[in-house]
Amino acid sequence: MSAIPLSSYARRLGLAVPIIQAPMAGSQAGALAAAVMGAGALGSLPAALLAPAALREETLAVRAAARGPLNLNFFAHRPPAPDPAREAAWRAALRPYYEEFGLDVAAIPEGPGRRPFDDEACGLVEALRPEVVSFHFGLPDRALLERVRRTGAQVWSTATTVAEARALAAQGVDAVIAQGAEAGGHRGMFLDEDPATQVGTMALVPQVVAAVDVPVIAAGGIADARGVAAALALGAAAVQVGTAFLLCPEATTSAVHRAALKSDAGQVTALTNLFSGRPARGIVNRVMRELGPMSALAPAFPLASGAIAPLRAAAEKQGRGDFSPLWAGQNVSGCREAPAAQIVAELVRGVWPQA
Ligand SMILES: Cc1cc2nc3c(=O)[nH]c(=O)nc-3n(C[C@H](O)[C@H](O)[C@H](O)COP(=O)(O)O)c2cc1C
Repeated sequence: MSAIPLSSYARRLGLAVPIIQAPMAGSQAGALAAAVMGAGALGSLPAALLAPAALREETLAVRAAARGPLNLNFFAHRPPAPDPAREAAWRAALRPYYEEFGLDVAAIPEGPGRRPFDDEACGLVEALRPEVVSFHFGLPDRALLERVRRTGAQVWSTATTVAEARALAAQGVDAVIAQGAEAGGHRGMFLDEDPATQVGTMALVPQVVAAVDVPVIAAGGIADARGVAAALALGAAAVQVGTAFLLCPEATTSAVHRAALKSDAGQVTALTNLFSGRPARGIVNRVMRELGPMSALAPAFPLASGAIAPLRAAAEKQGRGDFSPLWAGQNVSGCREAPAAQIVAELVRGVWPQA
């Protein structure tokens, strides 16, 4: 793969190809990260839905299976104060569905939600020594961030606007992930709150490149070699690809999610807050059509996930993804049931055929 003209940043990271496998909580663990690392890309492990012991185990498994740089990814949100009135209104909106599935509303527990980066997670970073630690939803507080920096890890975070990129650069991140509106999964937005003003990758990347002095990683809608070439032409140092890996055998994407990605419905995505409380892009399904896709009733992130979880489980038991977060970006054309290493190779071969 020596024919690939890597950015100096990608070279410094020890990458053979300028591809970063996007962390995808709920759809992957160590197997996907190890597979892309074997192909010279940067592997990522998402921590948001993993207990610390599981994150440690997955990281050690990746280290045993593959060499090269690894990214541990965390959500940097501040958990909200519980709001019983909002929770009750949300459950009332979901009541007809609970009745349809014969679920007892009173028996539905608060969901575990997503884990924020905290002292325990920071301790894991100190012990596991990933080459990169990336954050979504801003950055953790200064003391935790300093501890991460002292491990020698590169610190990355997501920007969805130029203002967010500037704010991250001012806090000393080593690279900014410019996440265009096309991207699957949660918007990393932390200054802006209005999903309607989010910027597409083609517009966001060059403006972020012009605004900050740190390397920029382009994310959102990059699904084939032309997308890689376009992002690099816009000034990105590397690209971060998520959706294109969702059908790989190494991903843990659920059966209903895989079926949706393979169907015509997979072409139609929207930003929704129904599954977690924050805007995220997923394939439009029944609950998004009927209650959203955005709803003022959904409790604050990550509390919305609790009340919808039993509906998701009940529907999935019937083989339906009507209440599941079917995260996907606007470009599902790169999704194939092929080994992740093959997806990586094809992403670069189309740009540099001699590689
Ligand atoms: C299924 C799925 C789960 C995701 N989970 C995370 C996550 O846990 N952490 C994170 O920083 N980004 C997450 N993202 C967003 C990705 O980091 C990235 O921005 C996005 O995948 C890029 O756009 P693409 O999906 O069009 O390739 C997720 C994306 C998808 C598709």
